[in-house]
Amino acid sequence: MKNYIVTGCAGMIGWRVSELLLSNGAKVIGIDDLNQAYDTRIKVWRLSELKKHPSFEFYEKDITQVDELENLLRAESKSNDFAALIHLAARAGIRQSIIDPRDYYSVNLNGTLNLLEICNELDIKKFVLASTSSVYGHGTASPSNDNRLSEDLRTDTTISPYAASKKAAEVCAYTFHHLYGLDISVLRYFTVYGPAGRPDMSLFRFVQRIFEGWPITVYGDGTQSRDFTYVDDVARGTVASLKQLGFETINLGSGIPIVLSDAIKTIESIIGKKAEIIHKPAHPADVKKTWADNSKAQKTLDWSPQVSFEDGIKSLVKWYEQNQSWARNLKSVS
Ligand SMILES: NC(=O)c1ccc[n+]([C@@H]2O[C@H](COP(=O)([O-])OP(=O)(O)OC[C@H]3O[C@@H](n4cnc5c(N)ncnc54)[C@H](O)[C@@H]3O)[C@@H](O)[C@H]2O)c1
Repeated sequence: MKNYIVTGCAGMIGWRVSELLLSNGAKVIGIDDLNQAYDTRIKVWRLSELKKHPSFEFYEKDITQVDELENLLRAESKSNDFAALIHLAARAGIRQSIIDPRDYYSVNLNGTLNLLEICNELDIKKFVLASTSSVYGHGTASPSNDNRLSEDLRTDTTISPYAASKKAAEVCAYTFHHLYGLDISVLRYFTVYGPAGRPDMSLFRFVQRIFEGWPITVYGDGTQSRDFTYVDDVARGTVASLKQLGFETINLGSGIPIVLSDAIKTIESIIGKKAEIIHKPAHPADVKKTWADNSKAQKTLDWSPQVSFEDGIKSLVKWYEQNQSWARNLKSVS
């Protein structure tokens, strides 16, 4: 049985990655501080799903508290030979990072540094770092590549503290690869969504609010587009990246950008209700379009997305319907 450490296991992606590892017969040590960045009831729900697996162990720990973390993982590594640490814990979310930038750097950069050091000290040879398409910021996509975002583009013009903190973590990880030979996969996820998603993200908010007949807010004119990627596709890609790669940075995105107003229409038609839309000005930290070039993931990980946007939204709506009695109370901004 292989053993893995997953940070951020109570998060949207951490939950699905842990589920996939557990269903493959692995043991997972999950770490999460269950902070209140968004409504914690959904983190507790995801965790309760994971706790149904006998091979899952959970520790409520903060990755910025290096001594506590090291003591825990040192003790755990005496009885477990860890194949990898999958680092998904982060302060996520672009707009909130402008209000609270220090916390983002503390968790996303210093927290990552703590985990890299621990891996090095405990001889855990594989490290997976969750990064983001946001690092592309103002980097200009190449017209010869249909303006898709590919891993070789410049990423030094990030436009939010969140993106900058993730770029800093990527660079920090490379240094550990160079100095200590840690084998590292940096995964740039593109707008992930799915069942038990984050209530601070647009698709979850839209599903909840259209379902309940509450108004939704759209920032900008709705013509912005996102390369929405289904969470189980992302989980599969993350697990595929556990192989030995040296140091690689890989996009995990659907490769199909969807215009926001079309995404809303899809949700309306699946739920069977019209949305009441409030428009607010576009936010300066939001990019206009993301479109993943996912050819490297196909080549390196033999990965390609399997779930269409419509099917992904159907799964999210189905999950919402099944959990509506409590999910309707989850705090989501309009
Ligand atoms: N969801 C997306 O669209 C998306 C896109 C790009 C990148 N990412 C990255 O993927 C990862 C997972 O994202 P997600 O959407 O599942 O977010 P999430 O917020 O649902 O999950 C992150 C988890 O990390 C935990 N966490 C935060 N700070 C911590 C700390 N100091 N100590 C321990 N645990 C802590 C949180 O409690 C949360 O459960 C993050 O690194 C995020 O930046 C996500």
